[in-house]
Amino acid sequence: MNIIKVKNYEEMSRVAADIIAETIKAHPTGVLGLATGSTPIGTYQNLVNMYRDGKLDFSGLRTVNLDEYRGLPRENDQSYYYFMHKNLFDSVNLKKDASNLPDGSNPDADAECVRYEKLVESLGYADLQLLGIGRNGHIGFNEPADVFEVNTHCVKLTQSTIDANKRFFASEADVPREAYTMGIGTIMKARKVLILASGKDKAWAVKNSFFGPVTPNVPASILQFHQDVVVVADEDAMSEV
Ligand code: PGA
Repeated sequence: MNIIKVKNYEEMSRVAADIIAETIKAHPTGVLGLATGSTPIGTYQNLVNMYRDGKLDFSGLRTVNLDEYRGLPRENDQSYYYFMHKNLFDSVNLKKDASNLPDGSNPDADAECVRYEKLVESLGYADLQLLGIGRNGHIGFNEPADVFEVNTHCVKLTQSTIDANKRFFASEADVPREAYTMGIGTIMKARKVLILASGKDKAWAVKNSFFGPVTPNVPASILQFHQDVVVVADEDAMSEV
């Protein structure tokens, strides 16, 4: 596990974008695993800037996203489909049918989970999977639990995640209660994992994920068993280490 400590959010975003750019250059027709949330927005902005400067080409890539709310149509401005188009896909030369997310509008949860897992498998899994980390150590929507869920599955969001995400919705009642997420096994099959953490409210998660025992009660701790993980964390996120 390679832990890179940086000063702040801006430096984290630059370092993360450089690592992703290296992967894109090494695998121009590869598979990029992407994440949503406030953490990767700066990283995506740097990638868009590199594309605009002619330094990066997305035209041969396919992408797979970690997760999506269940029950939100794509056009809802809180869907992860919408987020990805706004923050990255619409600003680079990724081909139209090259991006993939779980389909939040599919009411058949079992069918959707099987479809998405098979799709990621058929693409050969991600060359690089980008991750944020939840305050409770979740990755994707893999929340603290008694076991690691292996494959794409439908989860009930914990109150802590609903609380963290309600700022994006008109009221707490509007936050979806379920989501589709890649499983821990799906994530672990990525050839490289890049996980980002910024801010004091991630300090507990960073300490317990990367400096404590591996346990499904802290889902990101499983990454200690992955052979190629880069953690980019800022001083605040590292403040309890
Ligand atoms: P955040 O979410 O980037 O909005 O903090 C990260 C996560 O919950 O995975």
